[in-house]
Amino acid sequence: MSAQIINIADYPVDNLSSADAQSWVRQVRASLDQDGCCILPNFVTAQALEKMARQAHSIAHLAYPGPTEVSPYFFNYQLGHGEDLPGTHPVKYRGKRNLAQVAADLIPPEFLLSQLFHSDLMLDFLAAVTGQPIYRNQDPYQSLNISIMNQGGCQQWHFDSGTMVTTLLLQEPEAGGIFEYAPAIRSDTDENFDAVQAVLQGNSDRVIQNRLQAGTLSLFRGHYSLHRVTPVEGQRQRIQAILGYSTRPGLYGSKESSILHYGPRVSKIEAVTPFYTE
Ligand SMILES: [Fe+2]
Repeated sequence: MSAQIINIADYPVDNLSSADAQSWVRQVRASLDQDGCCILPNFVTAQALEKMARQAHSIAHLAYPGPTEVSPYFFNYQLGHGEDLPGTHPVKYRGKRNLAQVAADLIPPEFLLSQLFHSDLMLDFLAAVTGQPIYRNQDPYQSLNISIMNQGGCQQWHFDSGTMVTTLLLQEPEAGGIFEYAPAIRSDTDENFDAVQAVLQGNSDRVIQNRLQAGTLSLFRGHYSLHRVTPVEGQRQRIQAILGYSTRPGLYGSKESSILHYGPRVSKIEAVTPFYTE
């Protein structure tokens, strides 16, 4: 089934040992290494995309809006803690977040998006790209999400907690809703706050814009690259799926994060591993 969802004519994920596929995988890896980002347009077939978007629309009313003012560092509140920092410092910044997310447990398993997420072809492809075994996030809510942005919808500048994020754009807006990022602006040893502050204040020349088309799969190293989505313009919603893949097996999100992003209905679950995703 997943071989009919993925555009295997352009992306030979079903035959990764072929010379064509190996050449393509090298290109993906090089793009990730160089830009922290790889954009794969028309990753799913037109027929599958049409059905995926229709299915996403049918459950869009289940999306929960979540927080509206968010730090670039999410839950990493200990960053800068106890230091006497000016109000303009990045750790004190709060950006506007205006989107709603459908949690994984509300996405029916028969939906094409669920089938794609659970396809071993995706694990094999991502493992080939990263050179490491890849696992699905096991969290009942955070593993697979559909993000809905209405007119004015946006996502604030932020870093991801996970090392790589995999997204599939299901519907593009009429205008706006542009993905912007400052590649590799921080590292494990240097938060590079001055450069981050320049991006937050709109004074940076490091920002790259990507106007994504529906059907595009994006691989993005958002842990080191500050990124956002600009406000959506027009009536057509921006609809994006976030597929939770990781190099860590058995990954669950935190209870606190799930309650915040999917609402109090998820409070009955127990936290398993203190690791945060978005
Ligand atoms: Fe992100």
